Amino acid sequence: MRQVKTLGLLGTGVIGGGWAARALHFGFDVVAADVKPEMEEWIRGAVRNAEGALSRLTFAPLPRKGTLSFTTELSAMARQADFIQENIPEQLELKQRVLAEVSRHAAPDVVIASSTSGLMPSDLQRDMRAPERLLVGHPFNPVYLLPLVEVVGGSKTSGEALEAASRFYTAIGMHPLRVRREVPGHLTDRLQEALWREILHMVNDGVATTGELDESIIYGPGLRWAAMGTNLIYHLAGGETGMRHMLRQFGPCLKWPWTRLEAPELTEQLIDRMVEGTQAQAAGRSIRELERSRDDYLVAIQQVLRQFNLGAGATLRALEERLYEQNAATARPGADSGQLRMETHVRPEWVDYNGHMTDSRYLQVFGDATDALFRSVGVDDAYRASGHAMYTVESHVTHGAEAKALEPLYVLTRVLAVDDKRVHLFHAMHRRRDEVMVATGEQMYLHVDTRAGKAAPMDAMVRDKLERLRASQASLMPPTQAGRHVGMPPKGL
Ligand SMILES: NC(=O)c1ccc[n+]([C@@H]2O[C@H](COP(=O)([O-])OP(=O)(O)OC[C@H]3O[C@@H](n4cnc5c(N)ncnc54)[C@H](O)[C@@H]3O)[C@@H](O)[C@H]2O)c1
Repeated sequence: MRQVKTLGLLGTGVIGGGWAARALHFGFDVVAADVKPEMEEWIRGAVRNAEGALSRLTFAPLPRKGTLSFTTELSAMARQADFIQENIPEQLELKQRVLAEVSRHAAPDVVIASSTSGLMPSDLQRDMRAPERLLVGHPFNPVYLLPLVEVVGGSKTSGEALEAASRFYTAIGMHPLRVRREVPGHLTDRLQEALWREILHMVNDGVATTGELDESIIYGPGLRWAAMGTNLIYHLAGGETGMRHMLRQFGPCLKWPWTRLEAPELTEQLIDRMVEGTQAQAAGRSIRELERSRDDYLVAIQQVLRQFNLGAGATLRALEERLYEQNAATARPGADSGQLRMETHVRPEWVDYNGHMTDSRYLQVFGDATDALFRSVGVDDAYRASGHAMYTVESHVTHGAEAKALEPLYVLTRVLAVDDKRVHLFHAMHRRRDEVMVATGEQMYLHVDTRAGKAAPMDAMVRDKLERLRASQASLMPPTQAGRHVGMPPKGL
């Protein structure tokens, strides 16, 4: 299957908008197609709304944001896309007809994935050309923040297509969960629906309100589910003998049964109770307000889980490691007298009330350049896992010009000095449009044995590579800003 640069979207409602925001954020171009021309404004608005929370998800260096285009011609989208994600309404015949049409315009090495919540891929691929590239890629709302995507193949789907889809979803920060066998509703919606059926019964029977039933989740099981799911948590509930004891103790009540399989009749009275209940819970807050609050805590939860390397936090950690690796791979020492050159741009959330890049972000960008340089000499995740790291012991930043939102920048980094335990770096940040130097950063790093918690000589190979970098840059003039202290009369900048 082909390398993905452009994602094609078929249907640009709630789910199409979420896919667009996620893919653009991680550097992929998006061609969005919908039968309704007014959806162009809608999807652009959806991408803007997602940006706030997405931009706070990670500080890792991101590739340049992708570009979004819109068309009402499904065939035009299908010809440009390297990967197509279908998100039209959940009706089997409609999806079958549209997927068949799209498959006649898309090259056979383009994966076509359906966001369907419950339809089976074997039914969806029935009338398609090259049906082996059709699969289900079922995401969760909001697609731009929740990493789960269920990947399901049908009877004709190739292993190659499933692999390619999983690779693409991973590249945009998701957790592809391969479903072994197609079943209606895949995995997650079957579980969610079981819970929801019981909620409808309880509200129908007047046992509890929607708010009380939500409390029964959010103060208890909901907190456990985010990191350990149902089964591992029950394993813990069984004491020393784990799941075996749990099943012995609570197994009999599964037969009573507490819960019902058939949903209740959706009478007008039940619908009213559900609607009034959730309106009372919303307490006057609009859908937009509630969405913002949901997005904020979804970002915060993932960051907390990252510290424990659990669930969605482990996905975020792995994504960040790949982003740092990608940044280092593109920031190799180059034509600029052996200095390392790192491209970046001022992300909109980096600007302060004056509209310029704010103080702390200069250190962040210089930190990314340092990370890229250290990775290039072998100080990477594996090196850190071996109990060694470079710690910053001193930084000095000078500012010379302004950098505005979205301004393309580059940083040139050189090694001023290196010995057994210390590396002295100098960064010069420039605006790409006029080559003006915006800022400089001078930093001293100490090589540390992280287990002993004290300075220690660095690996000979690392030191040798740093020394070679320094020697290759030795013909450069010493930077005028190096060795300055705060308050010295300006020189150079
Ligand atoms: N909403 C959710 O929470 C959710 C979650 C996961 C998956 N899904 C699945 O995603 C799919 C889309 O759901 P949604 O909630 O985004 O629906 P939606 O109604 O918000 O959007 C559907 C879009 O498809 C467009 N459309 C209709 N016919 C079309 C055609 N022939 N060609 C191109 N565009 C067409 C519509 O104009 C609309 O913009 C469904 O299969 C649904 O089951 C939804």
